[in-house]
Amino acid sequence: MSHYQIAVIVGSLRKESYNNKLAIAVARLAPPEFSFKQVQIGDLPLYNQDDDTNQAESVKTLKKEIKSAQGLLLLTPEYNRSIPGVLKNAIDHASRPYGQGVWAGKPAGLLGASPGAAGTAMAQQHLRNILAHLNVPTLGQPEAFIQVRDGLFDEAGNIGEASKKFLQNWMDHYVAWVKKHAG
Ligand SMILES: Cc1cc2nc3c(=O)[nH]c(=O)nc-3n(C[C@H](O)[C@H](O)[C@H](O)COP(=O)(O)O)c2cc1C
Repeated sequence: MSHYQIAVIVGSLRKESYNNKLAIAVARLAPPEFSFKQVQIGDLPLYNQDDDTNQAESVKTLKKEIKSAQGLLLLTPEYNRSIPGVLKNAIDHASRPYGQGVWAGKPAGLLGASPGAAGTAMAQQHLRNILAHLNVPTLGQPEAFIQVRDGLFDEAGNIGEASKKFLQNWMDHYVAWVKKHAG
């Protein structure tokens, strides 16, 4: 049985981030041959093209962890109808220097949670656009725009009953997607 290491990137640095909680809870719905490791993006410098020839250690670590993963799971909050700057910063870092990006070909699933009714739909669409340019194949359906409501998580931090079936179905499709596209 193959093993699939998934690099998880959460576009929020907030301690009580819903998206971070979602990343942890949704990983518990995956089969045992999948393991999930969150890549840290909070310690990355602001991207500056002048540094391309001398990337910071945190950037090298980010690139190494993406490179060694068989798949990606990106969770984005929605900030002003797009993705947060910290997430774009991480994406830009790992796309450079030109020709030495690490994104291409990594199958990705997108999730996002927001208290807003549209549940990160706009942010996820922007993210898909960016990832298409980087040649990252993204799971198209099912889409998952999660509106944060009481009961989304239970007391143990698992997905609550009301959303469990929906997110289990999402995870089942994601797992099949990664298995199909992982190199
Ligand atoms: C700068 C900023 C802009 C925001 N813009 C949006 C928005 O466009 N749509 C939305 O649904 N929520 C928006 N929100 C609310 C976020 O969805 C909410 O803060 C959410 O909890 C952020 O995700 P997190 O819990 O993972 O940190 C915004 C929040 C901030 C701080």
